[in-house]
Amino acid sequence: MRDEVNTVGFSEAMALAELTRLADEIAAHDLRYHRDDAPTISDADYDALKRRNAELEAAFPHLVRENSPSFAVGAARADQFSPVEHGAPMLSLDNAFSDEEAMEFDTRIRRFLRVEDEAAYTAEPKIDGLSASLRYENGILVRGATRGDGRVGEDVTENLRTLSEIPKRLAGSGWPEVIEVRGEVYLGHAEFAALNAAAAEAGQRTYANPRNAAAGSLRQIDPAITAARPLRFFAYAWGLVSAPFAETQWEALQLLKAWGFATTAESRRVIGPKGLLDAYKAMEAARPRLGFDIDGVVYKVDRLDWQQRLGFVSRSPRWAVARKFPAEQARTVLEAIDMQVGRTGAVTPVARLNPVTVGGVVVENATLHNADEIARKDIRIGDTVIVQRAGDVIPQVVGPVLEERPADAQPFEYPTNCPCPLHTPLARETTAAGAETVVRRCTGEFACPFQKLAHLRHFVSRRAFDIEGLGEKQLSAFTERGWLNEPADIFRLARDEARLAELREAGGYGDTSVANLRAGIEARRAIGLDRFIYGLGIRHIGETTATVMARGYGSAKAFLAAMDKVADRDPEAMAELDALDQIGEAVIDAAAAYFAEDHNRALVQALVEQLQIQDAEQPKADTAVAGKTVVFTGALERMTRDEAKAQAEALGAKVSGSVSKRTDIVVAGPGAGTKLKTAAELGITVMTEDEWLALVAG
Ligand code: IVH
Repeated sequence: MRDEVNTVGFSEAMALAELTRLADEIAAHDLRYHRDDAPTISDADYDALKRRNAELEAAFPHLVRENSPSFAVGAARADQFSPVEHGAPMLSLDNAFSDEEAMEFDTRIRRFLRVEDEAAYTAEPKIDGLSASLRYENGILVRGATRGDGRVGEDVTENLRTLSEIPKRLAGSGWPEVIEVRGEVYLGHAEFAALNAAAAEAGQRTYANPRNAAAGSLRQIDPAITAARPLRFFAYAWGLVSAPFAETQWEALQLLKAWGFATTAESRRVIGPKGLLDAYKAMEAARPRLGFDIDGVVYKVDRLDWQQRLGFVSRSPRWAVARKFPAEQARTVLEAIDMQVGRTGAVTPVARLNPVTVGGVVVENATLHNADEIARKDIRIGDTVIVQRAGDVIPQVVGPVLEERPADAQPFEYPTNCPCPLHTPLARETTAAGAETVVRRCTGEFACPFQKLAHLRHFVSRRAFDIEGLGEKQLSAFTERGWLNEPADIFRLARDEARLAELREAGGYGDTSVANLRAGIEARRAIGLDRFIYGLGIRHIGETTATVMARGYGSAKAFLAAMDKVADRDPEAMAELDALDQIGEAVIDAAAAYFAEDHNRALVQALVEQLQIQDAEQPKADTAVAGKTVVFTGALERMTRDEAKAQAEALGAKVSGSVSKRTDIVVAGPGAGTKLKTAAELGITVMTEDEWLALVAG
């Protein structure tokens, strides 16, 4: 990246040409960053472009244009606000897409709590803006933050203070001494249209939809600009509180209103599955008249003591779900079908489309899922196709519009070989039972440069190691140079003075870019165990599973030792893994296969040597059962097995399915059999459900 400007020797014509080019390039990056949320360059490189523009303008002041990028008050770059750790994490919601899924939510809740009567829920509009957390101490607003990664957000206090719907001082009484009020910052339709019209008039950039406009407006460096944007705020939840303040979600919403917040008038309290479905229909009907974007309904269990009992699974509460409105669709032409090689060698067809706006976002690529799907739907290149996107899901091709098929369109011939330089024959994956699946894989494994690159891409991605300054372009360039073969090489590169010097001399990098790259890598040498596990990119081990495993094993040492045993199919180690929440056969097999491979063990070892892997955050260490391994057996009468397990885990205990000498406590209900017998033989503490409840209650 050119970041040192040498304007000496620039003619006026050259400067003008370069300023024009820079203005276009910066505007394109602005769009990708703000509108698409998909930047293609690092912040440092973007800043370098802006700097180059400013320096050229300084050298040729009469060439400064009215719509110069220097004047564009873009939203702040990621590093311009200080980080704020939330008092309680800001979670996301699981989605439900149909009546059936909404009813399953109700069933799940009642099964978990073992309640037979109909349960009460709130049904609230799911506002399409960006969430914010407002910390009040003694009723005074002291801090406001964006969601960020859920744990740490950005400090946008001054900007949030400018919103008239955010009380600087809470009204009424009865608020806890400390409370983090959570809600959505959004822009109404009319305000959005006016903002864009004014921006277009002034020759400034416009926003693709109200949500992006709200996000862009909130993250302004100058609060005066935020103040001039008519942002609004709805309160709907809370994070950390110093004391309980309500018994139900419904009551809490009324209190938030009494304390001076806007709450959505369309929220209702409903009973049972019918109530859930009716509320959804009502919200769908109200949607066009609301004057602001909503993308569904959020259902929440009304009783807060039940919410507490239900707890969380990974990043989402068990007690709430977002029932989304159906996907938005559009038509466009399918220009090509490319094959994309994933990190595990799965080859997926990707549709290259004539760009089209679907629900406010420009879509150019969409998934076609697999070969069978293309054949079944008879999708052909040149077809007009229906494209759909729902929420954050990857856009997909629904099918062709047959009346518009060009006369010469040919059925798509699925390639038999991988597009990678090895051109390996694509193998159809079979299940353990020998049945064919729809997945086709490149058989090149570690020799396939595409797989290697996909692996590295996953490794540096936001939810894994999140390495700033190491994007697609840099990864490709560094792998081509032979510098990156495995993740550990990334960390070696940061300390390889010779290669860094080479980047400066021959790679077109400036001092700042190299320093930023190095800092981006160094910042991730200390990494949480959950991100480490997720970053390995093992099949079936997504973020949630990685977090569960990190919590289950606690430290990298324990995790790696256990994986060695799992690779050897040691029954005890496999049972221990199986006992973790939500971990099933697919994960165990994938972990065993991964760690049985010498190449992978070497790769992990090399990586571990480069890192300081931090122990997983344990839910609780100061409870009577923290660190203990517990087995529930027989019938439980006061709570369901799921709830017992979730509660024990939240208190820092490990719940196992089988009794071994490592078991500390066996909680036995009526009907307990073999496990109880084994416990007696091994001399393990056995207690009744009531004794257990007394123990955990302290
Ligand atoms: S409750 C623990 N209520 O949806 C769950 N969220 O997909 C806390 N959202 O990040 C969220 N309207 O930005 C809740 N009435 C509502 C909402 C709502 C919109 C957003 C929020 C959250 C996202 C989750």
